[in-house]
Amino acid sequence: MNTTRCDRTPAWAALQAQFETTGRTLDVRDAFAADPQRFGVFSQSAPHIFADLSKNLIDEATQALLLDLARQSGLESHRNAMFAGDKINTTEQRAVMHWLLRTPAQAQRDGLQGLSVELAQVHATLAPMLDYAEQVRLDAAITDVVNIGIGGSDLGPQMAVLALDEYVIPGKRFHFVSNVDGHELAAVLKKVKVESTLFLIASKTFTTIETMTNAHSAKAWFAAQGGTDVARHFAALTTNVAAANAFGISTTFGFWDWVGGRYSVWSAIGLPLAIAIGAQGFKEFLSGAHDMDEHFRTAPLDQNLPVRLGLLDVWYRNFHGFTSRSVAPYHCALKRYPAYLQQLEMESNGKRVDASGEAVPFSTSPVVWGEPGTNGQHAYFQMLHQGTDVVPVEFVAVKTAKHSLPGHQTLLLANVLAQAQALMLGKADAGGHKHFPGNRPSTFLLLDELSPASLGALIALQEHRVFVSGSLWGINSFDQWGVELGKVLAKDVEARLLSGHTEGLDGSTAGLLARLQA
Ligand code: F6P
Repeated sequence: MNTTRCDRTPAWAALQAQFETTGRTLDVRDAFAADPQRFGVFSQSAPHIFADLSKNLIDEATQALLLDLARQSGLESHRNAMFAGDKINTTEQRAVMHWLLRTPAQAQRDGLQGLSVELAQVHATLAPMLDYAEQVRLDAAITDVVNIGIGGSDLGPQMAVLALDEYVIPGKRFHFVSNVDGHELAAVLKKVKVESTLFLIASKTFTTIETMTNAHSAKAWFAAQGGTDVARHFAALTTNVAAANAFGISTTFGFWDWVGGRYSVWSAIGLPLAIAIGAQGFKEFLSGAHDMDEHFRTAPLDQNLPVRLGLLDVWYRNFHGFTSRSVAPYHCALKRYPAYLQQLEMESNGKRVDASGEAVPFSTSPVVWGEPGTNGQHAYFQMLHQGTDVVPVEFVAVKTAKHSLPGHQTLLLANVLAQAQALMLGKADAGGHKHFPGNRPSTFLLLDELSPASLGALIALQEHRVFVSGSLWGINSFDQWGVELGKVLAKDVEARLLSGHTEGLDGSTAGLLARLQA
């Protein structure tokens, strides 16, 4: 693998010059007036998704320089290393192969031969998991599926089950418990019955304190309610099958250390989704993602959607200095999509040192945030249109609706188009208060329908765009050491809450602890 951190390439300096001369002042409205072909140049089709990038603060010269930056940084070499199964997660000495989970069993291509054992294992594991999912679907006595997991063991399946609500089997309810706050589990336990509930304990490591605490409480509740058949009512989704067995769960579905938690919805962690939408639906979800993998792996960089999005992210973060990206899905079923993307992007790229451990002299992950439209319009879009900060917005719209209520879909689509239009066009008003500066950038992702395949493609697109910016920044997008310190301190503070000992604590924590105990 031959990579160079982006700031050490000639293209970086060229981009700095470009930003100072034309980039900083580019006005998209003028760019459209000057080039009637702009929409065609800055839009493209990718598997299951059409993307309009033309409202972004970019011109052809900048795009060419960004593509140079990608080439000079060795993006292709890094991408190929991931798709060859190299251990590119260097701080944990792990391969990064979530894409293999959606690779068809019969797939053949250069670089895959060396992974035939892993690919066979993937399918040998997927088949029984999907059989189990079908079995649960047929089991009318099971009416409630409770997934207990956090982070990647919660956000992916939760987001996807909600997003594909129209495909979910009638007669079964899906619950997601992630928080160690007992209110969450207690609320679910009030609604379910022992004989009709399946608990899925989802944890890659099977050590995460929140998940283990919830799992123990669920098991205790099950026993207290007279439940005895743990094998029927509990299953574990984990790489640590031994720990799941020790916990008392014999029904287990495994995966591997080369699947990062936030990339694990395609593995056994996706079991709630497989139960919800069925084996065929889950296969379509995998297949849509695989289509995007192949696009990312093979399309020329200038027609490669994850690459183009990732390069825009670098342009905005490192040259314009934009600190966040707002995601605005115009489909209410995508309500957990922003939360899912927060973990994907911010846990992957929220890093301050490069892969060699050296502090980077530029900014990395933006803050990713958002809510479904049109709700966001009536909350924070005011700031997007007239606030002092420029926040690039990434819209997701879905062409067809699955309901037949008249008028709604047209109004929804009119709103998403109008918001993108208003951000770009603005509106002059001498009085100030009613002035919209405009020239506020947005990207528009359009799906024909929200289906297992298109959702799979959308999520894989997001995974790969995060790879692109992380790769150029030279950081390791696949570890998450930043979550460790809080976990360690929580153990110490938990003991102090029980004992009341505040010796050696900082003044603030000691003061709060004392108040909590008073
Ligand atoms: O918050 C850190 C983290 O390790 C995430 O990366 C992961 O998705 C989550 O915790 C849950 O981990 P596990 O699946 O091992 O319980």
